Amino acid sequence: MENAKLILSGKEYELPMFSGTEDERAIDIRKLRDMTGAITYDPGYGNTGSCRSAITFIDGDKGILRYRGYPIEELAGSIRYSAAAYLMVYGRLPTEPEFLDWRKQLTLNSFVHASQVNFFDNFSALAHPMNILGSMISSMSAFYPHDAEDESDIDLHIQRLIGQVKTIAAFSYRKSVGLPYIYPRTDHSYAANFLRMMFATPAEEYVVPKVMENALDMLLILHMDHEQNCSTSTVRMVASSMSNIYASVSAGINALWGRLHGGANEAVLNMLKTIADDGGNVAKYVDLAKRKDNPFKLMGFGHRVYKNFDPRSKILKTAVDDVLNEMGIHDPLLDVAKSLEEVALKDDFFIARKLYPNVDFYSGILYRALGIPTEMFTVLFAIGRMPGWIAHWLEMRADPDLRIQRPRQIYIGEKMRHFEQMNLY
Ligand code: COA
Repeated sequence: MENAKLILSGKEYELPMFSGTEDERAIDIRKLRDMTGAITYDPGYGNTGSCRSAITFIDGDKGILRYRGYPIEELAGSIRYSAAAYLMVYGRLPTEPEFLDWRKQLTLNSFVHASQVNFFDNFSALAHPMNILGSMISSMSAFYPHDAEDESDIDLHIQRLIGQVKTIAAFSYRKSVGLPYIYPRTDHSYAANFLRMMFATPAEEYVVPKVMENALDMLLILHMDHEQNCSTSTVRMVASSMSNIYASVSAGINALWGRLHGGANEAVLNMLKTIADDGGNVAKYVDLAKRKDNPFKLMGFGHRVYKNFDPRSKILKTAVDDVLNEMGIHDPLLDVAKSLEEVALKDDFFIARKLYPNVDFYSGILYRALGIPTEMFTVLFAIGRMPGWIAHWLEMRADPDLRIQRPRQIYIGEKMRHFEQMNLY
C-alpha cells in the first residue's frame, strides 16, 4: 500500500499505511512527532486506531457487527451465552465436549469467596448495583492476592470472572430485596442459573421458563463485545500498565456505568416512563432533544460508530415482540418506544445526523419482561460484556506492539510566570 504524504511548513513527510482484513485503511503515525514535532488532535478518539484487533468487526455505515468473523444475526439466538463467551475469549467455537466442560467450570468457579459475601451487608441500601458490582469485582484480586498476578493461571481467572459476575449481580439483588442467596447448579445453563439465582426461593423447585432463558442468552450475546468502546478502551488502558485482570475489568465496569454508555439502557426506560406519564406525547420529547439550549437527548438513539441501524437494535425489536407475545405481556412502554422511533426516524434533525435506535433502545423493555429491575439493566450489560473485556485484555497482553497507553495533549494553560512570596505557608 502506498505511503501517505504530509506537507508541513513546506516540508514533505511520508507516513506508512496499512489495512485490516476488511480493508479499513490506517495511517501509521507512530513516528509523526519524532519526524515533525507535531502531534494529532482527536478528542474522543473518533479517528484514532489504538490497536490492531482480531476480535470484533463493525462497519457502522452498513450496520454490520461480527464476532470473530461470525455475523451477530447468526450467533444471537443460535448458541448459548457460554458458547459465545468461549468463542470471544479463545477465538473459536468450542467442540461439544469443550463446551460442556467450560460450562461446568464456569459454574464451579462462580462461588463468591465466603468472606467476600459479607461485603453485601455493608454497602449502603441506596448503593447502585453497578457500584456494588465494580467494587466486588475489584476486590476479587484481594481475595486471590497471590495468584491474581500469576498469569500462568489465566484460564482460572477467566472462569472466575465470567462465573462470579452473575453471582455478584444476583446476590446484590437478593440482598436489596432481603431474600436468601441461591447458588448455581452445573445442570443449568449460564442464563438459567442467573434467572434461578435471581428469582428462585429455597422453598420450592424453580423451573426456569425456556422463553426467559433463551431471551437472556440472546441479550447477553448482543452485549458481548463492541470493539474499542469506552469501557473496553478503559480495560485496555488499565491493562497497559500491567495491572491484573480483575483490576482492569473492574475499571471497565465503572466506565460502562455512565449514561452515555451502558447506563443508557436504564436511562431509556426512565425516559419512556416519563413520556408515558406525560400522556405519551412523543413529538414533544423529539422536539426537546433537538433544542441546543436543553441537555435532553433521546436516550437509546445515536452511536459513535453506527450511522445506520445498529444491527443489535434490529434483532432486539423483533425479539421484544416475540418474547412479549409468548409471555402474554402487553407493555405500554413498548408502544411509546415504537411511536418515538417512528417520529424520530422521520425527523430531519435525526435523518441529517444519522441517528438511529441503538442496542439500549429496546433491551430495557425485554429486561423488564424478564422481571429484571431497572437499576439492574446496566449490570446485565456488564455480565454480557465480561467475555469481551477479557478477550481484549488477553489480546493486548499478547500484542507485540504493547506499550503503556499514554496520550499526549496540547497545553493551553498559563505561560510560565514567577511566584511572588505570599503568606500561604
Ligand atoms: N438525541 C439528540 N441528539 C443527538 C443524540 C440523541 N440521542 N445523539 C447525538 N445527537 C446529536 C448531537 O447533539 C450532535 O448534534 P450537532 O451536530 O448539532 O452538534 C450530533 O447528533 C452528533 O452527535 P455527537 O455528540 O457528535 O455523537 P457522539 O458520537 O459524540 O456520541 C452518543 C454518541 C451515543 C454518546 C450519543 O449519540 C448519545 O449521547 N446518545 C444517547 C445516549 C445513548 O443512547 N448511549 C448508548 C450508546 S450505545
